[in-house]
Amino acid sequence: MHVSFNIAADLEAAMQTAAFTAGLEPGAFSPELRPADPRHGDFQANGALGYAKSRQLNPRAVAEQLLATLPRAVRDAFDVNIAGPGFINFRLKPATLLAWLNAYDSAEHLKSGAATFYSGRHYVVDYGSPNTAKQMHVGHIRSIIIGEAICRLLEFCGASVVRDNHLGDWGTQFGKILYGYRHFLDRDALERDPLEEFERLYKAADLACKADPGALEESRLALVRLQQGEPDAVALWQQVNQVSTDVLKPLYTLLGVHYDHFLGESFYRDKVGQVYHELTTAGIAEESQGALVVFHPEHPRFAQQPFIVRKSDGASNYASTDLATMVYRVEHFAADGVIIVTDTRQNDHLEQLWLTTRKWFAATGRRLPEFHHVTFGTILGEDGKAIKTRSGDPIRLKALLAEAEERAFALVTEKSPELPETERRDIANAVGLGAVRYADLSQNRSSDYIFSWEKILSFEGNTAPYLLYAVTRIQSIFRKAGFDPADAAATAGATGPETAGEITLARKLVGFATVLTLTTAQLRPHFLCTYLYELAGEFSTFYVADKVIVDDPAVRARRLLLCARTLLVLETGLNLLGLRTLARM
Ligand code: ARG
Repeated sequence: MHVSFNIAADLEAAMQTAAFTAGLEPGAFSPELRPADPRHGDFQANGALGYAKSRQLNPRAVAEQLLATLPRAVRDAFDVNIAGPGFINFRLKPATLLAWLNAYDSAEHLKSGAATFYSGRHYVVDYGSPNTAKQMHVGHIRSIIIGEAICRLLEFCGASVVRDNHLGDWGTQFGKILYGYRHFLDRDALERDPLEEFERLYKAADLACKADPGALEESRLALVRLQQGEPDAVALWQQVNQVSTDVLKPLYTLLGVHYDHFLGESFYRDKVGQVYHELTTAGIAEESQGALVVFHPEHPRFAQQPFIVRKSDGASNYASTDLATMVYRVEHFAADGVIIVTDTRQNDHLEQLWLTTRKWFAATGRRLPEFHHVTFGTILGEDGKAIKTRSGDPIRLKALLAEAEERAFALVTEKSPELPETERRDIANAVGLGAVRYADLSQNRSSDYIFSWEKILSFEGNTAPYLLYAVTRIQSIFRKAGFDPADAAATAGATGPETAGEITLARKLVGFATVLTLTTAQLRPHFLCTYLYELAGEFSTFYVADKVIVDDPAVRARRLLLCARTLLVLETGLNLLGLRTLARM
């Protein structure tokens, strides 16, 4: 029996075919397929009701018509019945569940099943993207973690992805650093820890600018000098960026993130002239008090609040480079979609960017890509305020990750003191970093969340330790049985699921396809997290109820099959979220 990866999508298409065959008005019928209450089946189609109502027909009669014309393959795969006023219930037959479990037996096969969702689509994902001249702190982690999960998910579903770090390496901070360098430099400190010193210089200059309009003017002029390419300013700017990226890169490596490009704002500095020209020619931008601005009269706020695309002193800004970036992504990278991952403070900027891009691309006959601003909330401390160190400074990302590994090491040592230290360190790396990552991804990204070590390192609840442990538990079932989980011999001759625990677990596994479509459609990784957590729960229920290593070879094989596929889906899902899984812990 051939069974497709995304059973729900196939069923939906088959219902449309049935509607056509049954002579329902073309285009007027929607199957309205949704997951059913498990007592009634796997899917329920409610479309007959809406169709009948709008045409004053009897809904049950419409449902019966549809049922009679359902393609043969649907009847082979499901038990089908009509309930109530005309709902159609579909229950996956055990043979269908078995066929799916047999077909999707490796990460590659799952991937080729999912590859149709986004096949041929090409995305540029802009994430991480910190401003240079300072250390990354916790606030930066969400963009990195969420962005990387989105890249992996899209790739798994068939898209090709360019990972681009749009460094803030050309902003007003450089005017201040140039000013600070001139007035406050401590040469020894620069020798010892250049990034630290640049950050200090920036802060000192920032304070000076707040107190003294003269300082502000001087740093503004310094920025103009840099933008005009004065050699001393350019040399310092290069040094700052070099020092910054040297510090950034090991952190990305630690987090398993490998960028294809680091095309920061400065990369676009010679591409802004075209932006000014085209926006002006198309009548989209206008001069206002020396600046070039874009208003959006149709918008409640941006009719008055301008999008400043060139400052009155002639300097480019965040808007100019971002507009040039849009063109580059569409023309150079041939992107079908652009995804930018930042916190909500950039909502206005990115909304104005997109409104402007739409008008501009329409005027110049460019192809408009999809655009997604993926936003997220703040990480809060246990006091409910933005997370800080004791002294009130932002927590450094590096320090946070190191603490995660240390805490996980203590935990592993307590649980498994018998393991050699190198292995405990390795486990601590996967658990510690995994915990930080999973804590972030398992929340709906739109909300703020409270960061608590105790909670994220707990072995109970929707956490990384719980899921990583679930993986090792299944691994140990195979170790004890003397099989490799990928060894087909262990599961050969498996029959379709029979007991309640087996059936529930098998259905949950088949639901992997649905959760992938939901997660990628909304670019919200927490849907996948919730699914994995529920899957681990269904596995526990099954494992408590149904002994796996029994004498009957067919029963043993089918239970080992469920174990093997649960392991596969858990590992695949966790890897998509950026977690490294373990064989034991
Ligand atoms: N550098 C910005 C920041 O630190 C984020 C950049 C996001 N990407 C973009 N193309 N605007 O907030």
